[in-house]
Amino acid sequence: MRIVKTIAEAQSACARLRREGRILGLVPTMGALHEGHLSLVRAARAASDVVVVSIFVNPTQFGPNEDFSKYPRTFETDCAMLEREGVDLIFAPTVDEMYPAGASTFVVVEGVSDRLDGASRPGHFRGVTTVVSKLFHIIEAHKAFFGQKDAAQVAVLRKMVRDLNFPLKMVVCPIVREGDGLALSSRNRYLSETEHGQALVLSRALKTVGDAAASGEKSAQRLIEIARAVFAEEPGVRVDYISVVDPDTLEDVPDVTGGALVAVAAFVGATRLIDNILL
Ligand code: PAJ
Repeated sequence: MRIVKTIAEAQSACARLRREGRILGLVPTMGALHEGHLSLVRAARAASDVVVVSIFVNPTQFGPNEDFSKYPRTFETDCAMLEREGVDLIFAPTVDEMYPAGASTFVVVEGVSDRLDGASRPGHFRGVTTVVSKLFHIIEAHKAFFGQKDAAQVAVLRKMVRDLNFPLKMVVCPIVREGDGLALSSRNRYLSETEHGQALVLSRALKTVGDAAASGEKSAQRLIEIARAVFAEEPGVRVDYISVVDPDTLEDVPDVTGGALVAVAAFVGATRLIDNILL
């Protein structure tokens, strides 16, 4: 496994592999890896000849009062985990390497970037689409692997790939959860034991909504009320949003007859968590 820190090294290594006719799979991450990330790595391993994982805590996707500086950084452990998964190349640039002084070009997917997490975290998706565009250009992978955990990110990136004609296939992998239902997240390590217990309300609310939809409740408003009632059982958790939307446009839908994404975001203490289910 090779670890490269510069864009030039990553570009030349990947260009050479591509010229040799190898299929490149890219897994973009911010590190602090867990089984959710590893599920993407395994999917990439199974569907590509060469697996490239990027580890970069991207400052442009964090708001001024968010957790950029305290975001967990566990580079050595991450590398050991990726080595065990048979990853070929880790691209781990510094902030100055990705954003040299004076860099002023951003990629913005209008509309969809302002919904769900984009509404709660202004500018967040502009940072995501900018850094992912750069990674796509640098690695020139044939396939890129993302998690359904970040459903809004998937919608924004799918649109970006389409609108900007990136010659790459996006592969979306299912949400990996703890045995108790909590969706794995690098931010789970901020949670105390009590908060971990409280955080289960997110998956519990979604499960209740899924059951209600399966038993015939199709009204989005009713399903949101059902989720709210479950959240009310856990007063320590502050809901940011509960939304029933079209999974591609992230626009609210009145009912779930044609399928829908139910997405929630909530603060457990100071930690903001997200989760979702597709109906
Ligand atoms: P990060 O939060 O590190 O997540 C990297 C990838 O892992 C994302 O595609 C995310 O959806 C996926 N992932 C996280 N938790 C998961 C889980 N429990 N099950 C399945 N997949 C999971 O998302 C980002 O980084 C950044 O925004 C990035 C795309 C790297 C751009 O900076």
